[in-house]
Amino acid sequence: GRFPLQPHPRPATDAERAQALTDLHFGRVFTDHMAHARWTREGGWAGHAVVPFGDLTLSPAAAVLHYAQEVFEGIKAYRHADGSIWTFRPRYNAARMNLSARRMAIPELPEEDFIASLVDLVRADAEWVPSGEGESLYLRPYAFASEAFLGVHAASTIDYYVIASPSGAYFTHGLQPISIWVSQDYHRAGRGGTGFAKTGGNYASSLLPQQEADAEGCDQVCFLDDVTEKNLEELGGMNVMVVDADGTVRTPQLTGTILEGNTRSAIIRLLKDSGRRVVEETIPLESLLEDISSGKVREVFACGTAAVVVPLGRLKGRGFDVAIEGSEVTHEIYERLTGIQYGRLEDPYNWMYRL
Ligand code: COI
Repeated sequence: GRFPLQPHPRPATDAERAQALTDLHFGRVFTDHMAHARWTREGGWAGHAVVPFGDLTLSPAAAVLHYAQEVFEGIKAYRHADGSIWTFRPRYNAARMNLSARRMAIPELPEEDFIASLVDLVRADAEWVPSGEGESLYLRPYAFASEAFLGVHAASTIDYYVIASPSGAYFTHGLQPISIWVSQDYHRAGRGGTGFAKTGGNYASSLLPQQEADAEGCDQVCFLDDVTEKNLEELGGMNVMVVDADGTVRTPQLTGTILEGNTRSAIIRLLKDSGRRVVEETIPLESLLEDISSGKVREVFACGTAAVVVPLGRLKGRGFDVAIEGSEVTHEIYERLTGIQYGRLEDPYNWMYRL
C-alpha cells in the first residue's frame, strides 16, 4: 500500500491481544501500529508508513501544544460474520477532514492517502478488529502542527497519524437512554468560528460544561446557539434529532456552528428513503420542552460515529427537568444503520468500503 509496513520489534502476543479485547469500552486500548505521514512546506506530504504504535517525540515548542492547530476524524472498522472487515463512507470523513483542515490552515491530505492510511493500518492490525456485539475498531485520524515555533502562524510542519482503538459502546450503559444537561452559561461555538470543523478546541470548550453535566447527574451536555441562546445545536460529541408524534424527524440545520456528522447525514438519508419527513430547521429549546410535555414530541436521540444512535431519556437545565419516554424510531434507526454497518442488512447505498 501507500503506507508501507515497518517491522515491529515486539507486537502483542495472541494472549496479550485476547486479554486486551475482553470487556471493551471506548478509546482505552490501542493496537500494535499507527499510520503516519509528514507534511513540510518545502516537500509536501512524505514518509507515508505504518509504524509501531508508541509515544511521540515532540518539541515542547510544537505549535499544536500552544495554539491548538489540529484536526481529527472518527471512523470505525466493523467485522462482518464472514470475517471480512469494512468501514463506513470513508470518503465522507476524508472530505470532512479537509474541510476542517482548510479552516485550521492545515494542508489538505489527498483523499486517496486518507483512505490508504485506513486500509494499510487495518490490514496490519486486522486481528485487533473485535467481533462482539456492538464492537468495532475505532479509527482516529488526526493532523497537527508539529513545528517548533511560538509565533502565531500556520505551521510549516504537520504530522498526520491514524491510531486504532478496539472499542465497545461509548456510553457504559450501552443503549439505555442517556440524560442531558442543557448548558445555558457556555456555548460550544460562535458565528465565523470553528464549530463546523472537527478540531480539538471545540471539544476542549465542551469539557467544563461536561463537568457541569456530570455534577448534575447527566451523561452529556447539550449546547444552544450563541446568538439567541435559545436554539438547540448539538451535544458535546454528537448530533441531536427529534421525533414528532406524526413521525416527522427534525434536526438543527447546519449553520456553520454545528459539526456535519457522517452518522447524521446517513440517518437523514435512511429516514427520507423510508418515506419519513425529515426537516433540518431551528429547534428552540422552549418549544421542544413544551412539545415533550404535550406529547407532540415522542423521542429525542443523539447520533455520532462513537455513540452510534442513543435515545435521550431526560433533558435537564436551569429551571426544568423533563423525561422523554419514547425510543421506538430511535431503535428502528439503530437497527437499520448498524444492520448495514455490520453486514446484517443489504447496503443499497454502497456505503460500506472493504478494508
Ligand atoms: C465521534 O467519533 O463520534 C466523535 O465525535 C469523537 C468523540 C466525541 C468521541
